Amino acid sequence: MIDFDTYIPREGTSCVKYDLRYQVFGTEDVIPLWVADMDFATPDFILDAMHQRLNHPILGYSFRGQDFNESLARWLLRQHSLQIDPEIVSFSPGVVTGLMVLLLAFTEPGDKIIVQPPIYPPFFEVPLAHHRVVVYNPLLFDGNRYVMDFDDLSIKATDAKMLILSNPHNPVGRVWEKWELEKLSEICLKNDVMIISDEIHSDIIYPGFHHTPFLSLDPKLNKNSVSCFAPSKTFNLAGLSTSAILIPDSEKRRIYNSTLERYHLQMGNIMGNIAFEAAYNQGEEWLKELLAYLHQSVMIASDYIAKHLKPIHLVQPEATYLLWLDFRDFNLPTDKLHSLLIHQAHLGLNRGEEFGIEGKGFMRMNIACPHAVLEKALHNLRNIL
Ligand SMILES: Cc1ncc(COP(=O)(O)O)c(C=O)c1O
Repeated sequence: MIDFDTYIPREGTSCVKYDLRYQVFGTEDVIPLWVADMDFATPDFILDAMHQRLNHPILGYSFRGQDFNESLARWLLRQHSLQIDPEIVSFSPGVVTGLMVLLLAFTEPGDKIIVQPPIYPPFFEVPLAHHRVVVYNPLLFDGNRYVMDFDDLSIKATDAKMLILSNPHNPVGRVWEKWELEKLSEICLKNDVMIISDEIHSDIIYPGFHHTPFLSLDPKLNKNSVSCFAPSKTFNLAGLSTSAILIPDSEKRRIYNSTLERYHLQMGNIMGNIAFEAAYNQGEEWLKELLAYLHQSVMIASDYIAKHLKPIHLVQPEATYLLWLDFRDFNLPTDKLHSLLIHQAHLGLNRGEEFGIEGKGFMRMNIACPHAVLEKALHNLRNIL
């Protein structure tokens, strides 16, 4: 049994989530439930592999062997029944860096890039920073669940170059169904829009839902699509900046790799490589326990909100350890709501508007923490009601 219950203080470890609280919230007196990493220890088998390497005292330049690609290929087969050729795996120092390299490799300034807000902010920030035009295809929300707006997409895809998909979706927690991905692909294929499927959250899926890897769809999509994976969310390794960009088309892969090299981003780091392989080679049992714990966390939050926090509505997550909370019934301006949450409830959450204007009135809450911390956070919320 893995112990996810023990609280591990993280202050003083240069960690964004705790050590930047003052900069982000103006006070250190908040339970930090924001940036997407977990307050759980990285699994022992990963730390052991890293310690083992440290027994050798020289940490010079290193390279990734074939095991890097194969460990991911085997993981995808075991976890998602997806068979890939390990050759299609390229490196990136992080998924967001990978998105940037893909943009630089396959689009020009002024090209239109479609994103589906509310969405993880770098999906629009990175294209904007590189002078691409961001085209918003907002998700539709019926008060319970988000779906894609295919009619709007059909119009916007006609002159777009690329679509960046969060599969599953951060922050709304949707696990896209196969038919939804097929419909999206059909529209993109018809309009020659390249699809980037970011599957960084695909290992954290709740019972009753099933992740469809983009690479499992019709092989004719392989010419113009790319999938991104990383062990960083699943095994809490975000500080190691190591991820994988899967590009089935060999010419596109060549162009991606040469762009990566042009910006000298191909090196990676020795500890990231070791952790990546250990995670994907040995992570199955640990992940099962993590998922069981997180599923309990979702139920704790969901029951508590339904019982005691009536004006707040939880969008039931199908994936990810991020809850998307609808505070619109409070009828408060965002700044006031945020200030109330920080100074009265002592909670550090992400404001929905960070994910696009469609997130106005919502908050994102990271529940990857011990149950006792989550319960305290929920009690704090009740107190402000
Ligand atoms: C959808 C999505 N993609 C990418 C990332 C970050 O990836 P990386 O740290 O590898 O750049 C996140 C982090 O929350 C995310 O939610």
